[in-house]
Amino acid sequence: MNLKVCAVSKRYDSKVLEGISFEVDRGVVGLLGENGAGKTTLMEIIATLTKPDEGTIEYDGRSSAENLYPIRRQIGYLPQKFDFFAKISVEEALDYICQLKGIFSRSERQSEIEQRLQQVGLGDQRKKRFGALSGGMKQRVGIAQAMIGDPSLLLVDEPTVGLDPHERTAFRQLLGQLAADRVILLSTHIVEDIAMTSERLLVLHEGRLNYYGDLSTFIRSVEGKVWLYRGASIPASLSQGSRLMISSQSLIEGVEVRYLAETPLEGSIAIEPTLEHAYIYANRKKAAYE
Ligand SMILES: Nc1ncnc2c1ncn2[C@@H]1O[C@H](COP(=O)(O)OP(=O)(O)OP(=O)(O)O)[C@@H](O)[C@H]1O
Ligand SMILES: [Mg+2]
Repeated sequence: MNLKVCAVSKRYDSKVLEGISFEVDRGVVGLLGENGAGKTTLMEIIATLTKPDEGTIEYDGRSSAENLYPIRRQIGYLPQKFDFFAKISVEEALDYICQLKGIFSRSERQSEIEQRLQQVGLGDQRKKRFGALSGGMKQRVGIAQAMIGDPSLLLVDEPTVGLDPHERTAFRQLLGQLAADRVILLSTHIVEDIAMTSERLLVLHEGRLNYYGDLSTFIRSVEGKVWLYRGASIPASLSQGSRLMISSQSLIEGVEVRYLAETPLEGSIAIEPTLEHAYIYANRKKAAYE
């Protein structure tokens, strides 16, 4: 799937998205942004559930202004608030979604459900009530329903919130497998989810596109700007100028501080940047320009 988002803007009471453009044709794109940055709104627009005020979206060259039916067949969507009727079984839930997606033949539905259950590793949970599943399993059902019809574009909105570390890891692995032959847009504010799964990154900040490109390039952008300082106490000059403290840790003697700065304090050593460092730096830079 080639997904092309062209100058998309959306306003509710105030501007929510402004001039968002990017293009992708394979792999996982991580969509990172603080609460209210516009991630869900962008997902809903790409899922064709919300219309943008301005701009267009093309799916393999088909515009969202055309017939939506063939486009929607290519899209799988796991909404941020995914839930189901607690009393129906996993199998029944998937059967219901199959019907909503227009698969009317019973045998086709059965083979589709079988395939999706295997894909997400829920084969042995098919008879279980949805309400009795763990958070991680519910999210797997969410992915299974999104994968019905084998869509070439998969939109997943904050799928790992509330999962324990084991479930999170398993969920990331599942996304990695599914990314082999489709585009996945993964929204989150958990930086680690993106660091572990995405090749490309899209950073939204207050409705604007702050960065779109390779994850590694983004991280490299803060090379030489992340510092470690060890001393008796946190120096007052750390909060002056454009320096920004990321973390501080008390040691047996003194403190250890990590911070971002163009010019370091004397005695600091440069450390390897991470996605989190780059993300904090990018959002801070943007804020400083405004
Ligand atoms: N249907 C709506 N009506 C009015 N305002 C809305 C609507 N949907 C979203 N907004 C507003 O748009 C902004 C962006 O919301 P959105 O849900 O897209 O952010 P988000 O990045 O997904 O946040 P979160 O991380 O909390 O999920 C917020 O200020 C929100 O209040
Ligand atoms: Mg959201």
